Amino acid sequence: MAKLLILNGPNLNMLGKREPGIYGTATLQDIQSRCEEQAASHGLDVDFRQSNHEGELVTWIQEAMDTGSGADAAAIIINAAALTHTSVALHDAIRLAGLPMIEVHISNVYQREEFRHKSFLSGIAEGVICGFGVNSYVLAIDAMAGILKTGK
Ligand code: DQA
Repeated sequence: MAKLLILNGPNLNMLGKREPGIYGTATLQDIQSRCEEQAASHGLDVDFRQSNHEGELVTWIQEAMDTGSGADAAAIIINAAALTHTSVALHDAIRLAGLPMIEVHISNVYQREEFRHKSFLSGIAEGVICGFGVNSYVLAIDAMAGILKTGK
């Protein structure tokens, strides 16, 4: 079964407690369950991870490449959280991996502070989904399932 690597960046482990007015009350575990359910409906597996450390995310992206280790993923869905707005390293790792990637955000970053309007990932993403809460992930899985099936 093809596998989606779904990555989550800093502070997303605090969902549920973190600014519920912006991010809602779902926990990261709730989001993981929802993602697994949605991916299964497309016949896809999920490897769902979170880290507060940029380097760990970079390592996971490198490991997702087809290295013959069996760790490879077919595609990446990433909510890089604050690293979206700062990380050349994540940009470079995703380019290197050469896998289709969709960028997601729970909140609509364009309704928020200006520093959230810049993304180092959007330019190399198949697309960007933001502002739909937990559904941003669900929509990204649907979109990625289509890309894996038809190539677009
Ligand atoms: C976020 C938006 C980012 O600007 C922020 O730093 C996050 C979460 C979102 O999902 O809405 O941590 O990626």
